[in-house]
Amino acid sequence: MDKERRLWIALAFVMSISFAVLGYYGYQIYQQAPPIPDRIVTPDQQTVFTGEEIKDGQNIWQSMGGQEVGSVWGHGAYVAPDWTADWLHRESLFILNKHAHKEFHKEYNALNLEQQAVLKIRLQKDVRKNTYDPKTRITTLSQDRAEAIAYLSAYYKGLFMDDPQFDKLRNDYAIPKMSIKDPERMRRMNGFFFWATWATVTERPDSRVSYTHNWPSEELVANVVTPDLLIWSGVSIIILLIAIGLLVYNHVLSGKDDELETPVEDPLLREGMAPSILHVKKYFLIVSLLIVLQVLMGIITAHYGVEGNGFYGLPLDQFLPYAVTRTWHTQLAIFWIATAWLATVLYIAPAVGGNDPKFQVIGVNFLFCALLVIVLGSMAGQWMGIMQKLNLIQNFWFGHQGFEYVDLGRFWQVFLLVGLFLWLALMVRPLLPILRRKTEEKNLIVMFLISCTAIAMFYGAGLMWGRRTNLAIAEYWRWWFVHLWVEGFFEVFATVVIAFLFVRLGLLKTKTATTNVIFSTVIFLSGGMADLTLRKKTREVKL
Ligand code: HEM
Repeated sequence: MDKERRLWIALAFVMSISFAVLGYYGYQIYQQAPPIPDRIVTPDQQTVFTGEEIKDGQNIWQSMGGQEVGSVWGHGAYVAPDWTADWLHRESLFILNKHAHKEFHKEYNALNLEQQAVLKIRLQKDVRKNTYDPKTRITTLSQDRAEAIAYLSAYYKGLFMDDPQFDKLRNDYAIPKMSIKDPERMRRMNGFFFWATWATVTERPDSRVSYTHNWPSEELVANVVTPDLLIWSGVSIIILLIAIGLLVYNHVLSGKDDELETPVEDPLLREGMAPSILHVKKYFLIVSLLIVLQVLMGIITAHYGVEGNGFYGLPLDQFLPYAVTRTWHTQLAIFWIATAWLATVLYIAPAVGGNDPKFQVIGVNFLFCALLVIVLGSMAGQWMGIMQKLNLIQNFWFGHQGFEYVDLGRFWQVFLLVGLFLWLALMVRPLLPILRRKTEEKNLIVMFLISCTAIAMFYGAGLMWGRRTNLAIAEYWRWWFVHLWVEGFFEVFATVVIAFLFVRLGLLKTKTATTNVIFSTVIFLSGGMADLTLRKKTREVKL
């Protein structure tokens, strides 16, 4: 069996195994996600939050920028705190202080170690116990926790609305006054913060670890790292070292390629000059503008880290807050990188084929307009979402989804997916005649087509959650998007495109390029997907 054939089989093997494992852990996450109860009640059956209010609260947090303002379960931005870690710590101290005052007439921190230990164990027994009843779908709180919720709800209301005593903290966190404008929205967002925090400390049924696998670390409530996590982290590092060793070994064994002859003339001059190629030029102009805008947003975002409420004294946070600049900064990176690659392929495909299929020019121009509408429309929607100008349904469709890298509203996502399939059609058509010719380049072009199809298809992972989906499940699919699409298939695609260009430039032999492309794809995908799988394992979840 020749080398290329063996590599194709290895690729098929890696893909099947990895997706099977991913599917298995996906199934587990659906089964084990922290439940959203129908009601959370006090010991005397007073409803504190309903399930619908918690789901609304999640949508309100998303509309404010979600993971672009602090983080939840560790996913998100850095300037503001992780709200679940923050809530957990403040809730623990509130309950500990309450008991310390009642029993010892002192603050918890002023107690001796034995006194602290007694109170801590009492707290741990309270908050780690899973009081969700799957039959009634009700979670019952202790009196202490109900009081802690009232206390923390007032605290977060002051912070996210306009209590002057939090001016300094808002500046530190780069959160403008009145980030949330309506007290009822604030109440529901507190419901979501409580539920998400509940999942970080409540033990899963028949288990001693919390739904988030004891994350965040919080010694007061015995959220400590588990042996499982240490073992899997160790295993990942060992696998990484072994794999690097194997790659070096393979490289040493593979020997040197035959020398290539230097081309007598510029090989690109031989390429066909299809009319649509000229129309692709404007894509690169837009890419350059998007890079400038992205870096500008990065600079403003960085500045908010030191002056959270303005820009050299200008009250910039009133109309361009940190949540907006950070969202645009991260999203524009995806937009310009994707546009640059799409344009490269729109340039190469007709050049290789030598002519334009019917309507290619119209397609290239239509796609360009669609991309502009998506970039500008999604950015405008995100601004409106963060400024709290949309209701929750409008926000989901046109505003801010609050998930880092998938911040754009669902309508823009679907529009982009359609655009990606249009792009796929535009690049497949000029290449089909070459495929039929069965030249030496065939395998490289097949790989090229596979990677382009994956780019179009896997963007769809970002559509797998809905507006009311449990955060744990939405996060599973977001990881598909970030790791399989952005880090996985875009990497494969980049390698294929670059190899292809090198062959065209006469710098690489077709056979060398093809085998190396398939080989590196096996490495990317086994490495990338094993990484995803190990994360899922750690999340075994964590959920
Ligand atoms: C002068 C140039 C740049 C500046 C000043 C800058 C600044 C920043 C700042 C301040 C953050 C937010 C950190 C936080 O508060 O959470 C950030 C995040 C980020 N930036 Fe940049 N950036 C620059 C260029 C770039 C470029 C060129 C890219 C990609 C092509 C990029 C990609 C990202 C990404 C992906 C994040 C999110 C990181 C995360 O959440 O872990 N940045 N950048």
